[in-house]
Amino acid sequence: MAATASEQRARPTGSAQQSPAPHRAAQRRRGLQAGIFGVGAALPEHVVTNADLVERLDTSDEWIVRRTGIRERRIIAPDQPLSELAARACALALEDAGRTAAEVDQIIVSTITPDRVTPGVAPYVALALGAEHASAVDVNAACAGFVYALDQAAAQIESGRARVVLVCGAEALSRITDHDDRGTAMLFGDGAGAVVVAGGELEIGCGGFVLGTDATQADMLYAERDEQKLRMEGREVYRHAIARMVAATSEAIERAGLTIDDVDLFVAHQANVRILTATANELGLPPEKLMVNIDRVANTSSASIPLALAEAERDGRLKPGAIVALSAFGAGFVWGSGIVSWKERTHVCA
Ligand code: COA
Repeated sequence: MAATASEQRARPTGSAQQSPAPHRAAQRRRGLQAGIFGVGAALPEHVVTNADLVERLDTSDEWIVRRTGIRERRIIAPDQPLSELAARACALALEDAGRTAAEVDQIIVSTITPDRVTPGVAPYVALALGAEHASAVDVNAACAGFVYALDQAAAQIESGRARVVLVCGAEALSRITDHDDRGTAMLFGDGAGAVVVAGGELEIGCGGFVLGTDATQADMLYAERDEQKLRMEGREVYRHAIARMVAATSEAIERAGLTIDDVDLFVAHQANVRILTATANELGLPPEKLMVNIDRVANTSSASIPLALAEAERDGRLKPGAIVALSAFGAGFVWGSGIVSWKERTHVCA
């Protein structure tokens, strides 16, 4: 459905955005397409450095930095609901998109650490935002959850079932980390990031998604309901993560009608800097096209991609119209890659 001029709204703060160069995908995709129009991030205040971990674990700052790239992580306060962080990220994303809570049709929160078994986090986010007309649902696809949630949001928009969807990745992994296990304790952190997904006549939008799963490997990374601690075969996870993310990203690029040279920034789940570098290398991406912020936030599971997107934009690495390749891999195994254009246009009502 084409948007008329009267349906277009000016962004509240940004300057006029330029149309990106036409891509081959534009010739194939017609009609209403979902795209990302705003981003927001929220991190807990408390910083835990590698030096803090060294005080109580048999490890060293040098080992952690060399093997993972992580220098510090943020940890949520014991009495802070995760839904608060999620709502803050969502509110910032709405503000960034120039949208109000009243316009939101659906809120999808990806998390494996909801505050309660039920209800999920999304209903509390709706309440905190005052999103009275929104439906709300949690998604559990571990570290790949944000990519899955984004794919679902895009489907809602492109089918005409929703006009504005908030997609949030929010995790309090510190609550399911074994803080005495040096093999995992240094890896995880907490945080929340969100994007606003809406429709318009876009050239790329949410252009190509490839999702997959293989539960024969489920015992490589899991948390039991009783114990509630993440357990992992690090080396196996490492190996599978690179292979799956490379294959899924290559296929997603092809589905979007693009080539690897069209990708401006690769924003992958921040699991380990060596995984990120190896994946980018295999894809043929130069280091300057790889987004890395794991040094400051560690592995925040499904919050990691939207947190990295917010940071990349803040640092001037993401400009309107940029082509972004997203990729994530995690427990399940479950993985997914997607190609999105970054704030391709001033936002357009469907
Ligand atoms: N400090 C010091 N030594 C440590 C350590 C730590 N924090 N953690 C593990 N080691 C030791 C191990 O005990 C082992 O010692 P050994 O050889 O005497 O038995 C040695 O370091 C190597 O352990 P290994 O697990 O093989 O290390 P690694 O190079 O594979 O790195 C991970 C470990 C966890 C960093 C790495 O496997 C990884 O990042 N895996 C993927 C994690 C991930 O992405 N998880 C989430 C997916 S969403």
